[in-house]
Amino acid sequence: MIFQQVESPDDVAEVAFERIQHWLTAKSEPVFALPTGATPLPLYRRLIEATRDGRLPLARARFFALDEFWGNDLPESSTFRHFLVTRLLSPAGIPLDRLVALPTSGDPERVAATHESAIRAAGGLDLVLLGIGGNGHIAFNEPGTPHDSRTGLRVLTEKTRLANGYLFAGHHPIPTHGMTMGIGTIATAREVLLMASGSGKAGIIGRLQDGPVALELPASSLKSHGDARIVVDRAAGVALN
Ligand code: PGA
Repeated sequence: MIFQQVESPDDVAEVAFERIQHWLTAKSEPVFALPTGATPLPLYRRLIEATRDGRLPLARARFFALDEFWGNDLPESSTFRHFLVTRLLSPAGIPLDRLVALPTSGDPERVAATHESAIRAAGGLDLVLLGIGGNGHIAFNEPGTPHDSRTGLRVLTEKTRLANGYLFAGHHPIPTHGMTMGIGTIATAREVLLMASGSGKAGIIGRLQDGPVALELPASSLKSHGDARIVVDRAAGVALN
């Protein structure tokens, strides 16, 4: 696992953009896993622009959702699927059937097995893009999640629920559970790129660099991955040495 510090959130986006370009050059149908949240938005804006200009054949890729809220009768507009559709796929003109999203309800074991087998059928994950929670979570894998975990249901911490509250904006209780690719699933990717920007991530990025691989810090699992990179802007990397 390597750290790369750049200046701004747009520079973080540029690094991720180049890796996406790389995989689109290397393969006819590369497979990407996509995060939600504030961090990837500059990247998504960049991808939309380049796709609209005809400079990036992003529609050739397959996309997998990393995670999703879990609960009955969740408003579609609050889902991570909706986030990815409205923040990336639709504005970029990418057919929605290029995205394998996770449902918000059903038989959890069957849903998890279906996502895992769809990943396998697509030839495995080429590039997993990630954000990081203030508590070190990756996707919805909260502290304590085994590093060999596969896709499945997780209990969300209060912190994670609050961080995602804006998606529910008072019109629905924030779900208590999420369905997510496991840490072990993410580890099967050929390349992992974790993005962090802003001073709110400085503490966890410092802990990630200094500490050992530990269950309490899910992102530390990436230390054992052969091609994982942590790209941070100046503010998020202030504690790096
Ligand atoms: P953020 O979320 O990009 O909105 O900070 C990251 C995460 O919780 O994984």
